[in-house]
Amino acid sequence: MSDHELRVSKIARGTVIDHIRGGQALNVLAILGIDGAGGETVSVGMNIPSDRMGKKDIVKVEDRELSQDEVDVLSLIAPEATINIVREYEVVEKQYLDRPERVIGVLSCPNHECITNADEPVATEFEVLDDGVRCAYCETILREDLASHIAAE
Ligand code: CTP
Ligand code: ZN
Repeated sequence: MSDHELRVSKIARGTVIDHIRGGQALNVLAILGIDGAGGETVSVGMNIPSDRMGKKDIVKVEDRELSQDEVDVLSLIAPEATINIVREYEVVEKQYLDRPERVIGVLSCPNHECITNADEPVATEFEVLDDGVRCAYCETILREDLASHIAAE
């Protein structure tokens, strides 16, 4: 394949999540709640050679823009990713992620005894660690599978 061809075609409209660390694309899809059953048109490239990163993954979701909560959770597992909003084939906005120090109201705590799971609503709060997140209330640590702990709207 020549350098002038793209492995994954350009899209007309939607979101391109680029520069995802190699191997993380399926986790990105899980965070976006994409399993194919929703009917979205999605292209995924894995372990694509990249000058900057060695190898990268890329996810292109057509006709969809991301919510701030989705971007917040993505920043935990793919802090080096770039989010490109595409309209009429052009990148109209490029968002660089930043690993937050804490995430509030985005993830749910897996500890059923945690105050954030009690009847009185308390917003969840997690501190971001190098290799996971820690509940600010009960100190439960979540390392893997952040995607299945995204708080329900
Ligand atoms: N892209 C796409 N469809 C479009 C426009 C862009 O799929 N209609 C993809 C490109 O293939 C690239 C990403 O969106 O993976 C960002 O596009 P662009 O900003 O044009 O590329 P670069 O300048 O190389 O981006 P960066 O500087 O972030 O690496
Ligand atoms: Zn907790």
